[in-house]
Amino acid sequence: MELFDNPREDKNTKSDRPAPKSLVKFRQIYQDALAGAGEEKNKAQRAKGKFTARERISYLLDQDSFFEIKSLMESNCHDFGVADKHIKGDGVITGFGRINGRPVAIFAQDFPQLGGSLGYAHATKIADIMDKALQAKIPVIGLLDSGGARIQEGVESLNGYGEIFWRNVKASGKIPQISVILGPCAGGAAYSPALTDFIFMVEGISHMFITGPSAVKAATGEEIDIDTLGGSVPHSEKSGVCHFIAKSEQDCFRQVRELLSFLPQNNEERPLSETTTDVADRAVPVLERVCAMDPKKAFRIQHVIWRLADNFGFFEIHQNFAKNVVIGFIRLGGEVVGVVANNPAHLGGALDSDASDKAARFIRFLNAFNIPILTLVDTGGYLPGVSQEHGGIIRHGAKLLYAYAEATVPKVTLVLRKAYGGAYIAMGSKFLRGDLNFAFPSAEIAVMGPRGAVEILYSRDLKKETDEAKKEEMKIKLTKEYSDKFASPYQAARNGSIDEIIEPAEARSKIIRAFAVLRTKRDPKNHPRRGNIPL
Ligand code: HXC
Repeated sequence: MELFDNPREDKNTKSDRPAPKSLVKFRQIYQDALAGAGEEKNKAQRAKGKFTARERISYLLDQDSFFEIKSLMESNCHDFGVADKHIKGDGVITGFGRINGRPVAIFAQDFPQLGGSLGYAHATKIADIMDKALQAKIPVIGLLDSGGARIQEGVESLNGYGEIFWRNVKASGKIPQISVILGPCAGGAAYSPALTDFIFMVEGISHMFITGPSAVKAATGEEIDIDTLGGSVPHSEKSGVCHFIAKSEQDCFRQVRELLSFLPQNNEERPLSETTTDVADRAVPVLERVCAMDPKKAFRIQHVIWRLADNFGFFEIHQNFAKNVVIGFIRLGGEVVGVVANNPAHLGGALDSDASDKAARFIRFLNAFNIPILTLVDTGGYLPGVSQEHGGIIRHGAKLLYAYAEATVPKVTLVLRKAYGGAYIAMGSKFLRGDLNFAFPSAEIAVMGPRGAVEILYSRDLKKETDEAKKEEMKIKLTKEYSDKFASPYQAARNGSIDEIIEPAEARSKIIRAFAVLRTKRDPKNHPRRGNIPL
């Protein structure tokens, strides 16, 4: 008998032959794998306001784009009843799919299966998908929901984390790595995300900690609930561990898709260009208001960023952490640009330790992934004070200097108002190799603010004057003299510290033209490998 004797079967119609035994068996086993921990446990997951791992994958990826691998892999562990549970896939789903039409690798931990805990098979699956992502040079996305190292597997599960951490570092700066926290992320589970580029958390369901509330109480006596210890609020506002928070899982997936639209697939590519309806030479006369303002008056720098960006679009990162510096992505003339900006609305835009870490790591990410940097400067300097000094402002502030000096992607800087002291140098100045440096006519580029400078330069003369009113009059006169000489962009323009003073209304068109000129800027040869080390 011929093997293929019925041509009807070639026409994608259902065969009327009974399915062979091997197929029946496979289909049964595969159905078991798809069922995961079973409907009862999945229900319990949904009752917590969470989706199952499979649902999450289908919501995040482009429709019907997922294909899974290693769905039948299981744990070798026979202790403490793990083997009896026959967890097919070992509590994690791994595979490939598409987002915005572009390929990604993905893994999703399934909490209903053994608490999403990480045994060696589970870890091997994650490591394998990371290897494949790195070979294919595509982003890897982790959907995490896990009780951490699988207690029953002992040291093997710890080793599994080691394998993942090692790959996180190997992939760092080569492919984008994104962690989406969708449940507990305890112990080792918290450290792999911390090695990736971006962390998302969802209000109410995401928690990250090294040890949970009961272990904290046992170790230190502190009583704290799980949200206050490791929820999305402390991690997005205080620790800075989390870059994005979402109201719901669906909102979170939307944000992940948007983030990916700004990123290249790997460090050898550039982000995709888009055609934009916003004209490149759109005038922004409203920015003249910046020049009209008292330099001490606060405003939110986002207002400037929106007005410069194509169609007012700004995808802000780390929105609630170290608000004195603002970072994120915009498009200018259809090209992706990373923005780093002082924010006068918070601490007067001063740079403190957290702001330096926040900006420095973002700059290093941009540099690793060929994304040009726009720096907007309006800062009175590094933040003075005992707590900053003792908290290591020198150590943290130096990271920002390092990141700007190291970055070889196109760098365009615009000084809006104040650019004083070390912060002037740090924020993309020419001397850390800014490529094109602009200033508004309202810019004040100096070693320090006029008032502080006068107090130091004329301290002896001021001390001699005993009449307070006269002393104040003297200060005002000297401050004006200093301001006229230094608190302007003209000295900087004369000596070439900035390339051009520009009309605020022309800022968008000038910046777009600057980046267009720099588009063909090439890296110096033999630059060191650029990992995105956590800072
Ligand atoms: C094995 C685990 C587990 C784990 C949870 N489960 N965590 N199984 N290993 N680490 C199992 C539970 O036994 C339970 O199984 C199911 O998952 C659901 O757990 P619950 O506790 O019922 O759920 P919930 O009340 O929602 O609490 C979730 C939790 C809690 C907060 C994550 O389970 C928890 O605190 N787990 C331990 C967290 C932890 O300390 N991990 C650190 C491990 S050490 P059944 O069968 O009853 O459904 C580590 C170090 C690595 O990770 C260091 C590398 C550098």
